[in-house]
Amino acid sequence: KQIALMAGGFSGEYEVSLNSAKNIKANLDQAKYTVYTILIGRDDWFYEDETGNQVSVDKNDFSLTLNGQKIKFDAAFITVHGTPGEDGKLQGYLDMMGVPYNTCDATTSAITMNKAYTKALIHSIHNLYTAKSMQLFDRDVHEIAVIANALQFPLFIKPNNGGSSVGMSKVHNVAALPEALEKAFHEDSQVLVEEFIKGREFSIGIARLNGHLTVLPATEIITSKEFFDYEAKYTDGITKEVTPADLSPEKNAEIAQIVTEVYLRLNCKGMVRIDFILQENTNNFYFIEVNTTPGQSAASLIPQQVRAMGMNVGEFYGMLIEGSTK
Ligand code: DAL
Ligand code: MG
Repeated sequence: KQIALMAGGFSGEYEVSLNSAKNIKANLDQAKYTVYTILIGRDDWFYEDETGNQVSVDKNDFSLTLNGQKIKFDAAFITVHGTPGEDGKLQGYLDMMGVPYNTCDATTSAITMNKAYTKALIHSIHNLYTAKSMQLFDRDVHEIAVIANALQFPLFIKPNNGGSSVGMSKVHNVAALPEALEKAFHEDSQVLVEEFIKGREFSIGIARLNGHLTVLPATEIITSKEFFDYEAKYTDGITKEVTPADLSPEKNAEIAQIVTEVYLRLNCKGMVRIDFILQENTNNFYFIEVNTTPGQSAASLIPQQVRAMGMNVGEFYGMLIEGSTK
C-alpha cells in the first residue's frame, strides 16, 4: 500500500510532529507499506526524495509525481499535531479526496481540539469529573475580575485549541493573570481558564484494533516541574513516566471504563490518548483533554503503552492503517 504520512503543520508542535513521523516510518513494515512523508506547510505540501529534492503534492487530486510516475495514496496516516491535522481540516480535505485516514473524522477532531466543547460533551459520564472553568473569547481585561470571582486559584490558563502545553501557565493569584492571558491569547483567539486539580496525572491510549476497542496500559506522569509543560514533555530527565501506572485493579478498571465511554461518546476513530488527574482528596478522575493525534516519537506515551502491552509498535501502526475509515 502507498501511504501518505502527513506531518508538519503550522502550530507550535511542528518539531514534535516531525519526530512522530520519523518514528512511525521507522516502525512500519516496509514490505507492506511504501511510506511517503508529506510535509504540510501553509502554502506548499511536499515530499523530499532521497537526494533532498522537494516535490510538491498536487492538492487537486492528492497525488505526487516522481520520475514521471504519478503516485496516488491508498491511505493517509496523519501525525500533524495541532492545526491542520488535529482540528479536522486535513480530515475534511481527505474526505473530499476519498482517501481513508487513521484519525477521528473531521467533526470529532474539530470538537476535541476545543477543550471547553469537549468537556461539555463528556460532562455526564459516570465517575468522570471536570474542573470548573471559563472560556474566554477576547482579551478584554474586564474579564479578570469575573475570573477572580468565579474560580478558585491556582488556575491553569490554556490556549483552548492548543497542545503540548504551548502558551500555557499556572497562576496563583490575580496579579499573575494578565501576563498569563496575554501569553495564551498569543497562541489562540480562545482561552480556557480552569481550576487546578491537585493529584496524580495519568494518560491513557485507546484504539480500535482489528475492529476491537483496546484500552492501552495507563501511564503516570510524575514531573518535578510545577506542571507537565513543554519543557517537561520533551526534555529527558525532567519527568518520570511510569507505564503501566501503579493503580489498584479497581482504579484501573474504572479508568478503562471511562476512556471507553469517552471514546464512544465522542465517536472517536483510530487511536486517541486521554489525560486525567486523579484528585488527591476525593480519589476521583478529572478529565483534562482528548488528544486525537497523540505524539509518536520513540519516547512518546502511546509507543510506551503499546510496548508495555507486549505489542510491536509497527504492527500497531499497521492495524491503524488497516482500520482507516473513509
Ligand atoms: N499534543 C501532543 C503531541 C500529545 O498529545 O502527545
Ligand atoms: Mg495534549
